[in-house]
Amino acid sequence: MTQTFDLILRHGLAVTPNGTERTDIGVSDGRIKAIGDLRAASAAEEMDLRGLAVLPGVIDTQVHFREPGLEYKEDLATGTAAAAQGGVVAVFEMPNTKPSATTADAIDDKLARAKGRAWVDHAFFLGAAADNIDHLALWERRPGCAGIKVFMGSSTGNLLVPDDETLAEVLAQGVRRIAVHCEDEGRLAERKHLADAGAHPRVHHEWRDVETALKASQRLIALAEKARRRVHVLHVTTAEEMEFLADHKAVATVETTPQHLTLAAPECYERLGSYAQMNPPIRGVHHRDALWRAIANGVVDVLGSDHAPHTREEKDRPYPQSPSGMTGVQTLVPVMLDHVSQGRLTLERLVDLTSAGPARIFGITGKGRTAVGYDADFTIVDLKAERIITNDWIASRCGWTPFDGKRVTGWPTATIVRGRVVMRDGQLLGAPSGLPVRFQECPA
Ligand code: DOR
Repeated sequence: MTQTFDLILRHGLAVTPNGTERTDIGVSDGRIKAIGDLRAASAAEEMDLRGLAVLPGVIDTQVHFREPGLEYKEDLATGTAAAAQGGVVAVFEMPNTKPSATTADAIDDKLARAKGRAWVDHAFFLGAAADNIDHLALWERRPGCAGIKVFMGSSTGNLLVPDDETLAEVLAQGVRRIAVHCEDEGRLAERKHLADAGAHPRVHHEWRDVETALKASQRLIALAEKARRRVHVLHVTTAEEMEFLADHKAVATVETTPQHLTLAAPECYERLGSYAQMNPPIRGVHHRDALWRAIANGVVDVLGSDHAPHTREEKDRPYPQSPSGMTGVQTLVPVMLDHVSQGRLTLERLVDLTSAGPARIFGITGKGRTAVGYDADFTIVDLKAERIITNDWIASRCGWTPFDGKRVTGWPTATIVRGRVVMRDGQLLGAPSGLPVRFQECPA
């Protein structure tokens, strides 16, 4: 009898647990059912992927989609459309919305808003604050919750856990991964005059300097070791932190961003002004080189885009009134594929950083691997396509990217979420049908 599937992906170069191999993949009911030679099988829908690579779906574990409260910058529909356009199958969204997502109700509200409007799968971080510590252990297990997020230093919004005492209390609650923005609030306040006097974003990385980041990471790791709690250090930007964190991998997992791997001071500030302003900042080439070494030696576990849209009008305000953050969810895949084409990392390492890494760190179930039984999530890419990233292509409501005009080799040509083709050749297809991501400790 002929084997039948809902969908067969034929002849693609697939990155699987066995390596990178030309193979067919059979999908039914949203799951991967077979990997191998499926010449004898048929399906309702078939895609000929000759000449294309089939990656496990890319998961972006750090985005800010601004809903509720700041929808003029982005919302869950536009943010997830940008994700789908960029080859991203799932996103973890940050809690610095308005109001901040610091309650179970706020997580549930975001899930309800995403229903029928999100193009890709999603989970939401619960923000830690002085007034919700007693609830964190219960609320972090909410279906659709990605874990706990802590801001040690002020950034966009008012979420903040600046002191060791409160941070220790947060670390004592619950069991899930705690993702931390490491910048030392005391040092930021002490040095704010540098930004105020500077009036040019080129001082951003001098105000929010290496010591500001390193000090916070060191404080965090000391407390995490004491609490025997594993923490995830978001967007690591300095050579010093990479060296320090390499010695503490038993408690710390490490993220960096495509922006920090690609842009560098002072050039980016001269060229882009406040459009290169983000927290923690883009730093000099010495630090960028260190981030690449940490990609090569395995210290980095995951890439997050830190997609943080602000309108042009906001970004055009004189520094430091200009807000920090830039778009990234849609450019993560093409920017990183370009690095692959330049030989800076292998395709397999990129998959490790964007699929296997997120699954391992956050305890995702059924995603992050091209394996039978897993969700049929795929990022289909053309490794040879030469394209130019432009603002016109950006689906984010804010409509700009720091990579406008960048020539890249490598492009996402289709996004498949649980067996549904949601983007093909730049067109969104069907209706938004993203679902909450499932986790070991809180199955949806
Ligand atoms: O640059 C940033 N922008 N860093 C953050 O931590 C927050 C983000 C935002 O939400 O705008």
